[in-house]
Amino acid sequence: MKVQFTETVLRDANQSLIATRLPFSSFEGILDTMDSAGYYSLECWGGATFDSCLRYLDEDPWERLRKIKAHCKNTKLQMLLRGQNLLGYKHYPDDVVRMFVKKSIENGIDIIRIFDALNDVRNIEVAVDETLKNGAVASGAISYTKSPIHDLEAYVKLARQMEEMGCQTITIKDMAGIMGPQEAYDTVKALKENVKLPIVLHTHCTTGLAPLTLQKAVEAGCDIIDTAISAFSGGTSQAPTEAMLYAFRQQGYETELDTAALKKINDFFKPIKEQFLKEGKLNPVVLSTDTDALNYQVPGGMLSNLVAQLTAQNKMDKFEEVLLETPRVRKDLGYPPLVTPMSQMVGVQATMNVLAGERYKNVSKEIKAYIRGEYGRAPGEIDPELQKKVLGDEKPITCRFADTLEPAFKKAKEEIGSLARSDEDVLSYIAFPTQAEAFFRKRAEKEKNTFKYSIKRID
Ligand code: CO
Repeated sequence: MKVQFTETVLRDANQSLIATRLPFSSFEGILDTMDSAGYYSLECWGGATFDSCLRYLDEDPWERLRKIKAHCKNTKLQMLLRGQNLLGYKHYPDDVVRMFVKKSIENGIDIIRIFDALNDVRNIEVAVDETLKNGAVASGAISYTKSPIHDLEAYVKLARQMEEMGCQTITIKDMAGIMGPQEAYDTVKALKENVKLPIVLHTHCTTGLAPLTLQKAVEAGCDIIDTAISAFSGGTSQAPTEAMLYAFRQQGYETELDTAALKKINDFFKPIKEQFLKEGKLNPVVLSTDTDALNYQVPGGMLSNLVAQLTAQNKMDKFEEVLLETPRVRKDLGYPPLVTPMSQMVGVQATMNVLAGERYKNVSKEIKAYIRGEYGRAPGEIDPELQKKVLGDEKPITCRFADTLEPAFKKAKEEIGSLARSDEDVLSYIAFPTQAEAFFRKRAEKEKNTFKYSIKRID
């Protein structure tokens, strides 16, 4: 019996608790210890890290990755990728997706966890293919959700498709922390019986279920679990690495983690957490347990969005109504998993339906695009009446949306010109045009000043 650990403190825990505000300099000093601690992998890039580096931390995300790699030669570095959406929510053409994956691996990534918000496997195919071509590990990730159509059979089918595609591991990605222990047991067991790949479980402590869920998953044969060093665990983050290790060792599981190294890592991150708390950059609310998502059919993050939306419009008296309308809208749309951006889209539409006093009197631009097929294939059937109302006689797209897009890398390279100094820069520009351009200008300005300074010194 063996269980392996992926440490999330550098990416998901950092993202979930402090909106990805850890600068590279804050954790550089512990990377060598992390590299020798015996983790299966370190999740350290992708998701929101890229955006946050450019927008808030004044860091080149590619350079950050190279610097992490320079310290971590033994442990695999892992990133999260939204398939055809890369790090954002829009679809990119294949040339951009391939270049992004290739460069990520060239700059130090060993494992790419690839998912699609709708579980439309066509949207992960290209990224998986390019990952394999470049010799890295592709982990096919299933966006976990609950609905009448998301049964074990559906998940097994997805996992099989990912296995056929060449994925080397399958990740169950429970971004909302709504997976219970029995569901974890049943899902992992079904996957283990039907695919030959190692199974990874990613969940969040949001509703308080995570440690129980991980326990049952491992009992069912789950091979790798995502955890966060305890200083950055709990709440909307992952379950604590040290506690899970303690529990599994006690039960006779073999692990490669070194407790002394974990203690060092935690002692390193403790004061960082204290500092974020003190400066008000870590809100204690995200550290607490919120079981509302277990009672309502919507994840915790979405509930707070709904409250904010209704409060802004002075309509909190409609909260219960909106809460009842949300699962209905989701059903009409063919049960999309409630992850970004679908969670916001469904929430906004439900609010519009209630506030207008008539369902789908107004339909948001995003929902129209979804019904048109621009996000991918809906998991279930979209309500035919709603489809007719939105599309009229227009036919929805049945091909993969990226097939309708022109190649974009070369054009972007010309557009950004000499401000970009590498293909990596061009990719930053494609992913986050405004932030990347501002970053490049600032970088050029800084260098000009250094240059002036050096001339003065020669004088
Ligand atoms: Co997550």
